[in-house]
Amino acid sequence: MLRSNIIGTGSYLPAHTLSNHELSKLVDTNNDWIVERTGICSRHIATEETETTVFMGTKAAQNALEMAGLTADKLDLILVATFTPDYIMPNTACQIQAAIHATNAFCFDINAACSGFLYALQTADAYIRSGIYHSILVVGTETISRTIDWQDRSTCILFGDGAGAAILSASHTEKGFLGFLSGSDGSGGMALQLKNRPIKNPCRPTTKDLPDSFPYLSMNGQEVFQFAVRKIPEMVKSITGQNQLSPEDISHYLLHQANLRIIKSVAKRLSLPEERFPVNLSECGNTSAASIPILLDKCYRNSIIQLGSYILLSGFGGGLTWGSALLKL
Ligand code: UT7
Repeated sequence: MLRSNIIGTGSYLPAHTLSNHELSKLVDTNNDWIVERTGICSRHIATEETETTVFMGTKAAQNALEMAGLTADKLDLILVATFTPDYIMPNTACQIQAAIHATNAFCFDINAACSGFLYALQTADAYIRSGIYHSILVVGTETISRTIDWQDRSTCILFGDGAGAAILSASHTEKGFLGFLSGSDGSGGMALQLKNRPIKNPCRPTTKDLPDSFPYLSMNGQEVFQFAVRKIPEMVKSITGQNQLSPEDISHYLLHQANLRIIKSVAKRLSLPEERFPVNLSECGNTSAASIPILLDKCYRNSIIQLGSYILLSGFGGGLTWGSALLKL
């Protein structure tokens, strides 16, 4: 059977870190509150003019290509998941293509916020299983720090910058992606939002009070929290059931890193030990579309996940969106 499989992963995190203690000098917060409510201790923040969404995505892509032993000219498609592109046009995938010289690749971006990497993986898998493409680079890369109001304690403590990548290739073995599950609910979308520049043109009568700049990211944290703790166990049960497996059969769950309490609650609802849920949000915070591929890269490179086992990737976020992928290593 033709499947898609991961043959390389990579990641990039900015060198600069911002601790909870440093944040408590900027806004009315403290380390104990942040650790207790989120599990986050620090986050990586882009500080250089050159440390862009494209730059970080390029670094992650180069690491993944190196692990895969593939040259960039062999890539047929580049998919980039991001909601924080450096440019609205050209897209981030085309810019990464130029940076790595993937001259034969077709390139586009996917915006599904924190579920973006899973949506991109599912798209890549469909191209491979249909026989259209053989080798695909999937990147999740975010500079969320540029969208944050650093005076807003309800959001500025949560997010970080970074990038992760995976190379998917056609496989004729039993290894690879066994299934995907994804969905969207636009009616709940305003729970997490980042508005674009307003429509301001000579044909609109009253434009003088409209802002010129982009507004900041805003969120109804509790609504997103409730949605996540309900949706992830639901997806886990469905996708394992569809593949004649039970949640118990999955060796590791790589969940979107948004809040440690969400991860613990999912483990509890599934009656699984927390050790099966690797985390990095303590040092990375929430990196949206980059969070799952950064964690995946850590798990591959540190041999946390083992050949022959089943792993499950699962994410949720703005849109509202959600997605899961079941992988046999
Ligand atoms: O990738 C998807 C993106 N988003 C998420 O996944 C977010 C999911 N939601 C969450 O992670 C949590 O809802 C938060 C961490 C955002 C907030 O935690 P919470 O337990 O839901 O806190 P809350 O919003 O109910 O706030 C509780 C209290 C409030 O004070 P009062 O009204 O009880 O006096 C807040 O004003 O904590 C206060 N508070 C803070 N205090 C210290 C809110 N933010 C802070 C802060 N430091 N940074």
